[in-house]
Parts: sequence; structure tokens; C-alpha cells
Amino acid sequence: MDYYKQIFKRKSFHLFRGTGTITDDEMKGIEEFIKTVKPLDAEIETKICIVPESETTCKRGGQYCILFYSEAKDEYLRNIGYIGEQIDLYLASQNIGTLWFGIGKPKNMQMNGLDFVIMISIAKVAEDKFRKDMFKSKRKPIAEIWNGNTLGVAEIVRFAPSACNTQPWIVENTGNDLMVYRFKKPGKRGIMPVDKVGYYNKIDMGIFLFILETCIEYENYTYDRILFSDTTDDSIEQTLIAKYVYFNKI
Ligand SMILES: Cc1cc2nc3c(=O)[nH]c(=O)nc-3n(C[C@H](O)[C@H](O)[C@H](O)COP(=O)(O)O)c2cc1C
Repeated sequence: MDYYKQIFKRKSFHLFRGTGTITDDEMKGIEEFIKTVKPLDAEIETKICIVPESETTCKRGGQYCILFYSEAKDEYLRNIGYIGEQIDLYLASQNIGTLWFGIGKPKNMQMNGLDFVIMISIAKVAEDKFRKDMFKSKRKPIAEIWNGNTLGVAEIVRFAPSACNTQPWIVENTGNDLMVYRFKKPGKRGIMPVDKVGYYNKIDMGIFLFILETCIEYENYTYDRILFSDTTDDSIEQTLIAKYVYFNKI
């Protein structure tokens, strides 16, 4: 799977219009792909189910919703973000549009003792409905999210999707390490309910880590990843959540 290429193509389909049908073969392909996704933390039990969108509160014209369930322990939110982004990018490669849908609820908030975390609505769309020029998408400038040498990575990773486009990430390149922080401007929350910002932004960080790793690998760096616990203290502006010790190009 060429994830890197799909970063340029993917976008959120906030409302699906003029959709096609996801065939049974495509559904099998999705189910097979889901079996291959890599978690950030294999100790956290997860389950992914696909149901018709009509069986959820999501009404965006999708055919199905992918429901993510997880044990609510450790850094389960970013683990789901990391897994879900692999699926998001895979689906773009299949001309299946997606929408991460944070406010949606399924019928079953529990599955085999696991909690519902988030959903992605999906529908078959024409190739030309996908993103044509990613660089026109609204994002924070590089200088606001990256300190130090960009490595050719900052220019692309900043297009990772996030809840309400909050982009709650900052990376500091020390010359040997990429220090990845979850960032929360005190008092600023945009249109998200205040008690939900931390929840969604932790999922966002998992999405970001997957796209960051994809970009580092594309630029031919090898790396060691060290993960740190996130915090639930909302008054903290910057939380170090990961460090990538990177090595010279292969
Ligand atoms: C965790 C998460 C939750 C999201 N929840 C919603 C949502 O509830 N409703 C919605 O319309 N878009 C939702 N989005 C989509 C974002 O608004 C979108 O990713 C962001 O604006 C960037 O746009 P792009 O994905 O087209 O690059 C969500 C995205 C993420 C990553």
C-alpha cells in the first residue's frame, strides 16, 4: 500500500453526493485490509465493525460506517487514530471517500465489552471527486507546527486530518530527534464542546503519528519510536507524546 501517495488524494467528504455503490468484492477487500492494519499498542484490544450508515446517527449520505471499538485503557484514543488513518488512506486508494465523524453514535455503544470510540462514514465516489491540489487545503503554516529542519516531512504531514481542523500538533526537530507534542492553546476550543477537545485531539495525534511515519519513511530515514503517556490535564499547553530518533538516509 502506497500510503504516501494517498495523503495527497484523501479529503473529508462532509456530505456525499452522487455516490456509487461499494460492491461485495470491495467490502471483502476492506475487511481483508482491516486484518492487516498495525496498531500503535498491540496490548490494547480493539474491534472494527462495518454497519449501514442508516444504523448510526450519521446522516452524511455514506453507504456504511466503520465503527471503532476499544478497551478504554492507556493511550487507546491515539491507537484508534493510528489504525483508522491506515484505513482512511487505503480507502482513498480504492476510490472510496471517507469522513471521520466524531459526533456520530452507533446503536451499540459497547461491543464484546469494548467501548465505542469513533466512526468513519464511507461511500464510493468518482476518482475526480478526490483532492486535486492538497496544497490549497486550509492548514496552519509550517512555522506554527514545526521547529527546526523540515526534512521534507513538515511540508506534507501538516495536511493530516483532525477534528474541526484543530491540528493539535507541534514537532521540534532537534537534529537527531523529532519531538512530537500535542498542543492545546489555553482557552481556545473553536466549535468543539469543551469536554470533547482532549478526546478528539488524542485521536488526531494518532492520525498524525501515522502520517508522520509515512512521510519519514518516504524521505528514506530510519527511526526508533518512543511513545509517552498523554495527559488528561487540560491546563497543560504542550504534552510530549512521542519521540522519533531518526538516522541518516538509507
Ligand atoms: C477525529 C476526527 C473527528 C472528526 N469529526 C467530524 C465531524 O464530527 N463532523 C464533520 O463534518 N467532520 C469531522 N471531521 C473531519 C474534519 O473536519 C476534517 O478532517 C478537517 O477539517 C480537515 O479536512 P480534510 O480532512 O478534508 O483534510 C473529523 C476529523 C477527525 C480527524
